[in-house]
Amino acid sequence: MYRDTTCGELRLSDAGKKVKIAGWVQRCRKMGGMTFVDVRDRYGITQVVFDSDHEDNALFNASNALGREFVVQITGAVAERTSKNKNLPTGEIEIIAEDLKVLNKSEIPPFTIEDNTDGGDDLRMKYRYLDLRRPAVRSNLELRHKMAFEIRRYLDSKGFLEIETPILVKSTPEGARDFVVPSRMNPGEFYALPQSPQLFKQLLMVSGFDRYFQIAKCFRDEDLRADRQPEFTQIDCEMSFVEQEDVIEMFEGLVKHIFKYVKGIDFCDPFPRMTWNDAMRLYGSDKPDIRFGMPFVETTDFMKGKGFSVVDEAEICVGITAPGCASYTRKQLDELTDFVKRPQIGAKGLIWIKAEQDGSFKSSIGKFYSPDEISKIAEFMQAKPGDLMLIMTGEKMKTRKQLCELRLEMGNRLGLRDKNVFAPLWIIDFPLFEWDDETQRFYAMHHPFTSPNPEDICKLRTDTGNVRATAYDIVVNGTELGGGSIRIHDAALQDEMFELLGFTQERAQEQFGFLMNAFKYGAPPHGGLALGFDRFVSILAGLDTIRDVIAFPKNNSGRDVMNESPSPIDQSQLDELFLELKPTDN
Ligand code: AMO
Repeated sequence: MYRDTTCGELRLSDAGKKVKIAGWVQRCRKMGGMTFVDVRDRYGITQVVFDSDHEDNALFNASNALGREFVVQITGAVAERTSKNKNLPTGEIEIIAEDLKVLNKSEIPPFTIEDNTDGGDDLRMKYRYLDLRRPAVRSNLELRHKMAFEIRRYLDSKGFLEIETPILVKSTPEGARDFVVPSRMNPGEFYALPQSPQLFKQLLMVSGFDRYFQIAKCFRDEDLRADRQPEFTQIDCEMSFVEQEDVIEMFEGLVKHIFKYVKGIDFCDPFPRMTWNDAMRLYGSDKPDIRFGMPFVETTDFMKGKGFSVVDEAEICVGITAPGCASYTRKQLDELTDFVKRPQIGAKGLIWIKAEQDGSFKSSIGKFYSPDEISKIAEFMQAKPGDLMLIMTGEKMKTRKQLCELRLEMGNRLGLRDKNVFAPLWIIDFPLFEWDDETQRFYAMHHPFTSPNPEDICKLRTDTGNVRATAYDIVVNGTELGGGSIRIHDAALQDEMFELLGFTQERAQEQFGFLMNAFKYGAPPHGGLALGFDRFVSILAGLDTIRDVIAFPKNNSGRDVMNESPSPIDQSQLDELFLELKPTDN
């Protein structure tokens, strides 16, 4: 037996017991004739003492030869510590060593394996297996496991079946870019890795499975951000004989249950709901962070026609009122202007108005507007003395998105985005279609199988851009946690949808024929949703990036720097696949 006790479990009540532990050497400290060794395993850290007065001098010498991350087995007696460590669950005891076995040596690790490590991001990614030894990182994976387990338990209790779907699938054109896999047995042909199990879960409904879920790996070849990885995990679900309300109720229940289970937070009321139109109008985003206010106010009518070209040429003037920020200095205002002018945001400038404590106003637009006109704008923006109004102008959707970034920045600056506060909401009534100027065609905003709102079916051809989808997203603290829709189950409506999306009959048949054929055999009304599991864990863990909740994540260029992938393959592998590489520019 390598051990009979873990490094996390001994307490004062165990004093006097003889125990055997095994783990990694986190630290050795020599003090006088004693050596203190912190031994770490998955469960915690226990201090072991080697005393030079011990009859076995070889034991003391061996302890002094230990290095960081050596794997050791120690036998000894539990004793009360004289100087206790209140920050450690095992901090009241130590083990007086009687025997030491070095099970394995270690090279000096490239960074210290402690919560406050000296290792930078890149180094820790390269040695991810060592980073995972750090308690902070380990606890994220423990939380992930706990959540996955509880989600399975919850969905099982509601009658959902977990069914695996294929990883080698057919490439379909809509959505993000596919990762493709060449087929050796079918030269010149490719599989794709699934962006989600969407079509398979719909087929499972045709098969009568009624309630499906899967904690599913998904793959998307898209630009990466803090909340995006090329391979990620979804809690993917589908239900038959349901309407939007049924799906929302079921998964609101799941999200509430997990919040209670992990954080002890009770959301008693139903999550608020906001239409997509309102979310865009009030927050410039389909995933508003409603932990704080500062909703948008459109000031276009108050500002146009005064000879200020920036305003007169704009489609919209829209602003926010930042409470208590009238004290901002010139430098701070310049910083905000530079912030919105950054290429990622791309605004041309920023209008500001300070509501001073004495009732007067200072602004960047005094040349164009009288004090009375400025006072009217301030009144409309509900500014109180001491507040700062920030206004942007330009093309409607673009300006709203830019102001959304500024609102979030102000939320950060004012400390209003507290990680311990959780503000979930549903966004509903998404548009069914999105117009793309470049290709001059409509695209499905969600996917081509999303059902139009029954009330809007009559508008499909006459007012296509304003047709609402039966689609819903769940948003928490400005992150899209999940999304789904009620699907089209009627073949004629699906045909019409493909036609509106510019698919010829042949192309629709070629891409989605298997689904359309399946729908000829009695498809039940169905709908579902997928929650981003990595995002769910990272929100509950209070982390800024989903990388921290994935055991072996990719970096921002989509590389695994630990195993150095992607990497070239042998000519023989290429030959076998009938592939030839084109020269690249770099
Ligand atoms: P959607 O594309 O909205 O819907 O994805 C569902 C959820 O998955 C998460 N997610 C991601 N997480 C990490 N990295 C990524 N690259 C990434 N992309 C998406 C998000 C998102 O809300 N089949 C539909 C669902 C349905 O209609 O049932 C789908 O995949 O949290």
